[in-house]
Formats: sequence, structure tokens, C-alpha cells
Amino acid sequence: MADFNPVRLWRRFLAMPNDTSTKTFAVAFMVASVSAVAVAVTAVTLRPLQAENVAAGQAERMQEMLASVPGLADLLADADADAIETRLVDLDTGEYVTGVDAGAHDVDAAASDQQASTALQPADDVAGIGNRPDRMPVHLVIENGAPVLVIVQGYASGYQSTIRAYIALESDLETIAAISIYDQAETPGLGTRIAEPDWQERWAGKRVIDEDGTVRVSLGEAPTGDFEIDGVTGATRSSMGVVNLVNFWLGDHGYGPYLARLRVQMP
Ligand SMILES: Cc1cc2nc3c(=O)[nH]c(=O)nc-3n(C[C@H](O)[C@H](O)[C@H](O)COP(=O)(O)O)c2cc1C
Repeated sequence: MADFNPVRLWRRFLAMPNDTSTKTFAVAFMVASVSAVAVAVTAVTLRPLQAENVAAGQAERMQEMLASVPGLADLLADADADAIETRLVDLDTGEYVTGVDAGAHDVDAAASDQQASTALQPADDVAGIGNRPDRMPVHLVIENGAPVLVIVQGYASGYQSTIRAYIALESDLETIAAISIYDQAETPGLGTRIAEPDWQERWAGKRVIDEDGTVRVSLGEAPTGDFEIDGVTGATRSSMGVVNLVNFWLGDHGYGPYLARLRVQMP
């Protein structure tokens, strides 16, 4: 009768000559299995840590951006922790969504959920994102009860990656106070230069919304005034990604309805 005792089977296996193909394949199979399990366990256990790191990186970028806005660092240093208020906006109506934890809103999850997003018509999809979440967070920097800075966020297709950014608007809701690209994977040394302070600083003080309420920014070679930004040399497509991001997310299919409502309420 066949012997299925595992200890004896293992001993018999070990006693086999090392150059037999059975033993070679069996050892290779065991090494591969152990490695696969180790990789899977590592991936699963590290996932929450990765998510935490992304969130921490995002918060850090926001702080850096706020620190880069002239005068704001002092305001934030003086103010208490309530100076920044995060709320959730219904992009279609432009109204705040109540009874939700805005800070916990997962933009990526909403974008891939058909119930929580809207498929964009190609002509409207300036940012090249396909689906737009129906709700997005807004971060308000408050001084004496009124917003001095309105920070929205968005994303757009770049040359080879999705570019994600915060856009801080001054209280006129037409001028950019600062932009912070907090996530992108463009080509190192080329497209990645959009995330360097030199380029991001070019946005500060640019008016991007005209008197008709139309958002319009474009790339220009010698942009001295408003509505035009000088792209990164050799990375026109990454630069255009950021221009598209601003045009889309401040426009009618982004935060446009919200900004229109807020404009009426501003002191
Ligand atoms: C290997 C490689 C990587 C590139 N990476 C980028 C990039 O990250 N961003 C970008 O805008 N263009 C990138 N380009 C260049 C684009 O193909 C295109 O030439 C460029 O955007 C045009 O910019 P320019 O008009 O300023 O020269 C890359 C090109 C090559 C060959």
C-alpha cells in the first residue's frame, strides 16, 4: 500500500539525488511558492502604510503651498487649527454636501464608482479624465470668519501620467494664489519639472477667470500678463496637462458652479 506519511515522504524526497529532474523541479516549485506568498503578504500588509504615506505627502504639499502664499504663513501661524476648513461640494449644484466627513472623501473611489461620478462627453473632457466625481473637497482658509483663500483640487492627463494638483484661489476667486502639483509620474528631468517650485511659482498672481466668468488659460511663449503661462521647455505636454487641469476644474464641469455661488456670497 502507498505510504502517505508526510515525514517519511519528505525524508525520501531529501534522499533523492540532487541531479534528478523531479527534485530540481520540486525545489524550484517550493522556492517559487514561498516567494509568491512572501510577496503577497508584504504587499497586503504594506498597503495601509502606503495609503497613509500618500495622505501624509498630500497634506505636506498643501502646507508647503500655503507657506508659499505671501502673507499666509503669518496668518496660519497666528490662527488656530480651525483656520483651514474642509468641506465637500456637489459639483453640479455648487452647494455644500452636509452630514459627511469631507476629509474622508475618497476622490479616486468616487471617480471609479458609476453612482458617484459622471461620464464626460469628449468635448467637455478638457482634462482627459473620462469620469468626473460628483463631489469634490474644497479647503477654505478662514480669517475673521471669511475665506481668504479657496483651495480646490483636481487631476488631468499629462504626457505619461495623471497629474494631481491643489489650486489656491485668492478671495476674488479669479486669481491664482498658488498651485501645488502633489502627484505626477512624468519623465524625470523633463515633465517632472512641472512639480518644481520654479515653474509652480509662475502661476502665482495669474488671473485665470475673465469678467464673463470664463476660465481661460493657455500656454504662451512670452506670457507677461494674465491668462497665459510659460510652459516648461521640452515638456509642453506636461505643462499643457496642468493648463488643462486648471481650465477643467475651475470650469463649468468642475468647481465652476460652486465658485459662482461663492462669488455672490463673498463680502
Ligand atoms: C523619452 C521621452 C520622454 C519624454 N517625456 C516627456 C514628458 O515627461 N513631458 C513632456 O511634456 N514631453 C515629454 N517628451 C517630449 C514630447 O514628446 C514632446 O516632444 C514635447 O512635449 C514637446 O515639447 P517642446 O515643444 O517644449 O519641445 C518626451 C520625449 C521623449 C523622447
